[in-house]
Amino acid sequence: MGGQNSFPIGLEGIAVAETVLSKVDGAAGRLIIAGEDVENLAGRASFEEVAARLWAADGEPPAAHEVQSALGRARQEAFLSISSLGDALDAADAMDALRAAVAHLTEEARAAGPRWAAAARITAAVAVFAAAWARRRAGAGPVPPDPSAGHARDYLSMLRGSGPAHREVDALDTYFVTVVDHGLNASAFAARVVASTGSDMVSAVTAAIGALKGPLHGGAPGPVLDMLDHVGRPERAREWLGSELGARRRIMGMGHRVYRVRDPRAFVLERAIERVQAAIADAAAAPIAERLELARAVEREATSLLAAAHPDRALRANVEFYTAILLEAIGIPRGLFSATFAAARAAGWTAHVDEERRKGRLIRPSSLYVGPVPRGRAGPT
Ligand code: COA
Repeated sequence: MGGQNSFPIGLEGIAVAETVLSKVDGAAGRLIIAGEDVENLAGRASFEEVAARLWAADGEPPAAHEVQSALGRARQEAFLSISSLGDALDAADAMDALRAAVAHLTEEARAAGPRWAAAARITAAVAVFAAAWARRRAGAGPVPPDPSAGHARDYLSMLRGSGPAHREVDALDTYFVTVVDHGLNASAFAARVVASTGSDMVSAVTAAIGALKGPLHGGAPGPVLDMLDHVGRPERAREWLGSELGARRRIMGMGHRVYRVRDPRAFVLERAIERVQAAIADAAAAPIAERLELARAVEREATSLLAAAHPDRALRANVEFYTAILLEAIGIPRGLFSATFAAARAAGWTAHVDEERRKGRLIRPSSLYVGPVPRGRAGPT
């Protein structure tokens, strides 16, 4: 709580919107996305099926194949626009590049097409721009999309220039579904605030990208891998983490504003990593197994040290912890982790924008002024 007129700092526990998109139950460690528990969706429903449900909101969802075709066409359209993005994709940081590139889009009204057409165009463009940025950083040209492929498969193909293995597509699709929406997280809230002013969907998504970039939100998985690299071996975990906490630095991938138990998405992603590992030959799986062993040791020690330091606040592994291991296992470069998150979350952001427009009212909270008040106001003349 803050100040003499108490209010929850960071709006903790304050509901500011009604939504049918997703529900986060922090005490039970339960996440419902579009009416289904995340464990039942991830690995079973495709990204397109889940996006269809989110974009339909409380109406009848479009067929997944319609969404897949719309995303495919939109990827082609976004790919053709790359040459007109100026230096947007030259930024050193993927999220800076994404923010600048997405800002070039427009949400023009089109006579033909479903209500969710703009959401599909923006979501597809995020994936195309993220992949093109990574190619450029690697000194390679952009790879044209395959409009008939799914969002996850084509993202990997556009990154590599060659077809990914089935296990990799399955893992990325599972990841995309797992992170597609998550209640009123900071970036969805940012998007809703912009949408509530009557502004356009591109502006709302641009704001959301800015919010996602922060290390307390979507910027954590890269630093999680940096942490594992620093720790190096499981037996060094406790000492390394202890010195970080001693220096009052936060352990990335640990803690959550809402969950008071382990993030349910950490379980889902941990299982997805095990599936990738099981699907490849022993020798190739060894580095993944080693990473996983190290990650589990770091999580164990971090959980124990954080419990001792904060006995009143359960700080457990969050989604970003195992995101880092999963994305690394399927060859996504670490500088692209947050942008890959955005390639899925864009479907959630656009669904929030649509919902806000249909149900919301200008979001305009107030602040408590704690500055000086001049004496003897003369009054209007
Ligand atoms: N490492 C070390 N200490 C942490 C911590 C972490 N990961 N997360 C929270 N804490 C500490 C805070 O510093 C605070 O300590 P204090 O009371 O001595 O100041 C205390 O725990 C309570 O923090 P809390 O109120 O729960 O934090 P929050 O709700 O404002 O923050 C996060 C939630 C996610 C921002 C926070 O846990 C965090 O920074 N995690 C690391 C970044 C991360 O993984 N982000 C991805 C989130 S999905």
